[in-house]
Amino acid sequence: MKIFLDTANIEQIRNGMKLGLVDGVTTNPTLISKENAKFEERIVEICEAVKGPVSAEVIATDFDNMLSQARELASLNEHVVVKIPMTPDGIRAVKALSEEGIKTNVTLIFSSLQGLLAAKAGATYVSPFVGRLDDVGNDGMQLVAELNEIFGNYGFATEIIVASVRHPRHVLQAAMIGADIATIPYEVLLRLFNHPLTDNGLRRFQNDWQEYERKQRS
Ligand code: E4P
Repeated sequence: MKIFLDTANIEQIRNGMKLGLVDGVTTNPTLISKENAKFEERIVEICEAVKGPVSAEVIATDFDNMLSQARELASLNEHVVVKIPMTPDGIRAVKALSEEGIKTNVTLIFSSLQGLLAAKAGATYVSPFVGRLDDVGNDGMQLVAELNEIFGNYGFATEIIVASVRHPRHVLQAAMIGADIATIPYEVLLRLFNHPLTDNGLRRFQNDWQEYERKQRS
């Protein structure tokens, strides 16, 4: 499973890249609004750091303006993937962009039928928002499982990005289902490393080694 970072924070992205585990980045208008940076400049900066897929979202909601914003975003860097919202105009734009060879990530997917439409339109990626579904009492991971089955049934090349990830268990469930990608906040990535028995075990090894060295010296 590929791991993307869900952030527009360049420091978090650089730190994530140092771990050698990050394959791409997703941003959205909310994440960009938390940064003190010019949108286009930050996207280029992220692309240069990651050298992998970087999702940048259009703000327009009508077909013509989505298309022109998408073309502008795609021209910024070869790694840009244009994020398009799941609406009829959005799906029309995805179809047109896929014919132009521009990669798309259909965002705000909350049902498997929305995902089916996006895949049929030629989306490169779909982003089911599991955390937001869980928040309203639905089962976000059930959506991922359904999308995985539907895309398998028809051999769609569209990849599933499990989005709106809130905790390590979401990452585990995404991997168990066989989702292509999980896009995760930086702090969730760091939490994937943790286990108290690893910490205790390491502490014990270090203490025992110090004791061994002390005995060798005496
Ligand atoms: C995905 O591409 C979105 O940027 C993101 O995962 C949304 O997550 P949130 O529900 O935590 O805002």
